Amino acid sequence: MRIGILTGGGDCPGLNAVIRAIVRRGVDLGGHTFYGFRSGWAGMLAHDGIELTRANTAGILPRGGTILGTSRTNPLSSTGGVGAIIETFERECLDALIPIGGEDTLGVALALWREGLPIVGVPKTIDNDIGHTDVTFGFHTAVQIATEAIDRLHTTAESHNRVMVVEVMGRHAGWIATYAGIAGGADAILVPERPFDIEDVCSRLRRRHSSGLTFSIVVVSEGAKPLQGSTMTLGAPGESDEFGHERLGGIGVALEREIESLTGFQTRATILGHVQRGGTPTAYDRVLATRFGVAAMDAATGGRFGHMVALHGSEIVEVDLEEALREPKLLDPKLYETAEVFFG
Ligand code: F6P
Repeated sequence: MRIGILTGGGDCPGLNAVIRAIVRRGVDLGGHTFYGFRSGWAGMLAHDGIELTRANTAGILPRGGTILGTSRTNPLSSTGGVGAIIETFERECLDALIPIGGEDTLGVALALWREGLPIVGVPKTIDNDIGHTDVTFGFHTAVQIATEAIDRLHTTAESHNRVMVVEVMGRHAGWIATYAGIAGGADAILVPERPFDIEDVCSRLRRRHSSGLTFSIVVVSEGAKPLQGSTMTLGAPGESDEFGHERLGGIGVALEREIESLTGFQTRATILGHVQRGGTPTAYDRVLATRFGVAAMDAATGGRFGHMVALHGSEIVEVDLEEALREPKLLDPKLYETAEVFFG
């Protein structure tokens, strides 16, 4: 078989591990060749890419980012986009396509599958919000980075008697905030799934500080929002990408201002931003990404298309792509209840 591979959307630690695993598995099975498209769907639209071999995918396992590059190009947003992709697929004489991406990249993959392209999806996102898989690779690394940052912020918060607001990624779901918040001992965690009452957050902080403690850590997802009708104001919305997603970032700064003015406590915000997506994947993410890559190759050689590889418990399985993309996987309320035990 000749297989096309691409990485789309935001990058994520573990992408290279997936690419390496697909190629290695395919080469070992014998007779398979690989073409990697540059910069996600943009590479397919422009027929731009490179031959992937065992030699040029060796040594990339621990490397962050993606050797193929990525973009948020949406071929469904332009007329003729789907036709151009099908043309590239045929010109490159491909038998299957393995897109590695999040909800947007896999959404395009689903549309192409409906058009008849043989597709096996591999889910990736540090946000961990793709349905029908317990975890996506990249999430563990992001949580580790955020936890290390919270640990560092703890000591400076304590020295200066300050409230430290830590803004982490998480557009629809508060997985990173809640995991890193639990691991780092946060005193409040604000997530997209639960609009927050700023008065309530501040009274918890006041209660904590009146009990003799002089510092607090507040972890907030970039996608968190104040309750409707709240007096708290956010900055103007950022521009949207080709998939219609608004550019997020900055709620931490708004919280810094609000908490300081309502409580009188000195408050500082740290936006972790893309630090969470960069650098080498953790061992857990390398293993998960490798297992996903091998399973995707096996699904392609077995002719099982229209699927996405996924983790269920400790097993790697294949799930229906359409089912998987029906809804984002939001935070488990029970996990949040555990985090709440330690608030204030
Ligand atoms: O890939 C998901 C994500 O990490 C979101 O959490 C975040 O909102 C977005 O990517 C940031 O994207 P960009 O790299 O385009 O700024």
